[in-house]
Amino acid sequence: MEMDKLVSLCKRRGVLFQSSEIYGGLNGFWDYGPLGVELKRNIKEAWWRDMVTGHDDIEAPPGAPEAYEMCGLDCTIIMHPQVWKVSGHYDLFVDKMVDCTESKKRYRYDQVPGRWVEAKGQKVFVTTLAEANHAQEIEARALKFFNLRAKDAADLAWQGGLVSLAKIDPAEYVKVLAPEAKALGTLTAPRDFNLMFKTIVGALGTEEDAAFLRPETAQGIFVNFKNVLDSSRVRVPFGIAQMGKSFRNEITPRNFTFRSREFEQMEIEFFCHPNSSLQWYQYWRDRRFRWYTEMGLSGERLQLREHHQDELSHYSRGTADIEYAFPFLPAGEFGELEGVAHRGDFDLRSHMEGKLDPNSKPDLKVELGEDGKPKWKGSGKDLTYRDDITNERYTPHVIEPSAGADRATLAFLCEAYHEDQAPDDKGEMQTRVVMKLHPRIAPIKAAVFPLVKKDGMPEVAQKIYRELKKRWNVFYDEKGAVGRRYRRQDEAGTPFCITVDGQSLQDQTVTIRDRDTLKQWRVKVEEVSAELAERLK
Ligand code: GAP
Repeated sequence: MEMDKLVSLCKRRGVLFQSSEIYGGLNGFWDYGPLGVELKRNIKEAWWRDMVTGHDDIEAPPGAPEAYEMCGLDCTIIMHPQVWKVSGHYDLFVDKMVDCTESKKRYRYDQVPGRWVEAKGQKVFVTTLAEANHAQEIEARALKFFNLRAKDAADLAWQGGLVSLAKIDPAEYVKVLAPEAKALGTLTAPRDFNLMFKTIVGALGTEEDAAFLRPETAQGIFVNFKNVLDSSRVRVPFGIAQMGKSFRNEITPRNFTFRSREFEQMEIEFFCHPNSSLQWYQYWRDRRFRWYTEMGLSGERLQLREHHQDELSHYSRGTADIEYAFPFLPAGEFGELEGVAHRGDFDLRSHMEGKLDPNSKPDLKVELGEDGKPKWKGSGKDLTYRDDITNERYTPHVIEPSAGADRATLAFLCEAYHEDQAPDDKGEMQTRVVMKLHPRIAPIKAAVFPLVKKDGMPEVAQKIYRELKKRWNVFYDEKGAVGRRYRRQDEAGTPFCITVDGQSLQDQTVTIRDRDTLKQWRVKVEEVSAELAERLK
C-alpha cells in the first residue's frame, strides 16, 4: 500500500486533518475528523474494555501466574514539577539535536541517515531526510555535490553502509553534507534538547511557576499508587490503567501521526511481587501482542522485539517492543506501537526517596547534587506495600505496557486499506477502495439505504435506521445510485449495508451486504438488529 493513498483518503473522508490547516497547519499536530474521532474512540474503548472493565478479577487469564485486579485513573496533564524532576524527565528526557547554519533547520541527529563516499580525492558523509529509498537519494546528492553525471556513478567510492549521524564523531562534521545544505560543515555540535513543553501556572509568570505538560501518563499513576491502595480494596498483584494526552516537543515530527507533538497514550502500570515480576513481564508482553492480532493486525506486519540485555537499564529484567511494519518505513523496518517494560521498583522508590541514579550498580542510589545533598527530593511518603495475609512489606515491582492510541489508529488504518475489484451499478468491474477495519473499531457499524427514494422505501429504511441507532453508530443515506452509496461506505470501513428494496415492501425482508465478501442475503426486518449484534461480535 502506498502511504499517499491512505493520507489522501484520510483527508477526503474526514479521518485526519492537519491541525490549524486554514492557517497553514502546525507541524506535529493532527485533528481527527468525523470518521477519525469514532475510529480512535473505538480503539481506546476496546483497550479500556479488554484491559480494565471487561477484565475478570477472579480467575487467572491464560498465561497469567494468578488472578489479578485492574482499575483506572484519569490524572491531570500538568502535575507538580517535582514529579518530573524525580522521575528523571527534567534532566534526562532529551534528544540530541544539531542545527544547520545554512538551512537554519534543526534535526534529531539519530534520525539523519547518511553514508561515507569518496570521489575526486575528497571524502564526504552525505546525509538525507528521505523516508524511503535512502540509497537512491544519497547517491543523487553525492553526484550533485561532486558535480558528476548519473552515468559517472561508478566514480563514487562508497565506504561502509548506511549509518545515522549519531555514529559520526562531531570532530568530523566538517566533512558532513547536511540534509538540506549545499556546502560541507554546516552542522553545529550535538546539543541536548529537552522534549517537555514548558508552561507557567498562575498569574505571576515567574520561572518559579514553571510547570510541564506531561510527556507520559505513567507518572500520574505512580504518584497516585497510595491513593488507589487506600481508597479501593485492591491487593498486589493489580494494575492501574490510564489513557490521555501526552506532549513531546519532538524535534522532527513526521510520518503522518506516527511521531506527533501531541498524542494520546494508553498505559498500564502493573504492580506485583518482585519474585514473580519476570513471569508477569512475560504475561503482559504476550497479552498485549495478542491484543493487536485479535483486533486485526496481521502476523506478517506485526512483531514482538525483545530488547538485548545490553539495551536494558540495570534495574530492568526485560523490555519488548510491539512493532508494526508501517508502509512509510523502508522495507524490512518496523516502528514501535507499544513498549512493554519491566521497571523493577525504580519509579515507586524514586517518588519515595528522591531521584535515583538508573546507572548505579549494584543497587539504585539516590542521586546527589554537587553540594552532596539529594539532587531532587522524593515525596518522603511510604509507597511500600504490606501484604495483609503474609505480613510481608515490600516495594512492588512494576510492569509497564505503554501503548500509543494514535500509533495504534495509524496501524489499523494502514492494515485496513485495500483495493480490489467489485461490480459497479452497471455490473462492470471497477477498482474499489475498501477499509477492512475490525467491526469493533469501524467508525460506522452499518448503513441503511432505501434502494430508491419513493414507493415507501425511505419510510421503512428510516424505521430500521432509528431502531439500530439506539445501539450503534449507523448511517442513513438515500442520495445517488446505490452502488455509489456502497462505495462510500466501503471507504469508511462500514462492515454492513442494509438495503430496503421492492421485495421488502412485499415480504418485510431487507438485504444485508458484507463489506469484505460482497455477499448479500435477506433478513426479516424485525431480525436485523439481532443479526447485526451477532455479526458485530
Ligand atoms: N511510560 C513509558 C513511555 O512513555 P514511550 O515508549 O516513550 O514509553 C509509549 O511511549 C508509546 O507512546 C509509544 O510506543 C508510542 O506508541 C507512543 N508515543 C510515544 N511518542 C510518541 C509520539 N511522539 N507520537 C505519537 N505516539 C507516541
